[in-house]
Amino acid sequence: MDATCLFERNRRWARRMTDGDPDCFARHLAGQHPPFLWIGCADSREPAEQIVDAPPGELFVHRNIANRIDPDDTNARAVIEYAVGALHIEHIVVCGHYGCGGVRAAMEAAPTPGALGRWLEPVRRLRERHEAELATLADAERKLDRLCELNVAAQVAVVAELPSVRAAWAEGQPLSVHGWIYRLCDGLLRDLRVSVSGPGPDRPTSAGRHDDADGPERVQDADAALVGGQHVR
Ligand code: CO
Repeated sequence: MDATCLFERNRRWARRMTDGDPDCFARHLAGQHPPFLWIGCADSREPAEQIVDAPPGELFVHRNIANRIDPDDTNARAVIEYAVGALHIEHIVVCGHYGCGGVRAAMEAAPTPGALGRWLEPVRRLRERHEAELATLADAERKLDRLCELNVAAQVAVVAELPSVRAAWAEGQPLSVHGWIYRLCDGLLRDLRVSVSGPGPDRPTSAGRHDDADGPERVQDADAALVGGQHVR
């Protein structure tokens, strides 16, 4: 495919936008006030704005392979700090998807080499921690999809421990962290019911638990929420 076709599509898109609303781009010059931060997989089949039919200005977006948040990832930390501290976003959505290639790679017997392998190592550890549950599932695709769910829940737990998120809650700022999953086969989102809307009495207050980045205790909480018949493909 010739990359110049993207300019052609861009011109058509801009025309369509202004046909329906002549001032739509002019309004963007005044600034952005998106109500949602979307943390999704970089997978081309999970295009954030399209799957929730969001116009420009509605989603602040961070995407990477397997929708992961590391407590010491400067990029992700900066996105979340800005979204919460400056944009006062009220909802952070961590959205994974079934059939995620990154999660699938973390299930392979042999570790993935290079930067991708380092990036996916926490997903591999998450799989190891949940080996017993995963072993009860009948086939490889169900194991993969369950690990995709567990991965989302683990990232929600990580986001809920970030200093910027905890500071927002300490100041009484309304802020929820949601865990959702997208199904490639029908284009529909599901709520994994692992949302967090405050620090909670059972959560540790220390910010430096990097060893516990995947939050095993919190993931078990998430398991309880997920197990009640929630896993429906
Ligand atoms: Co993916």
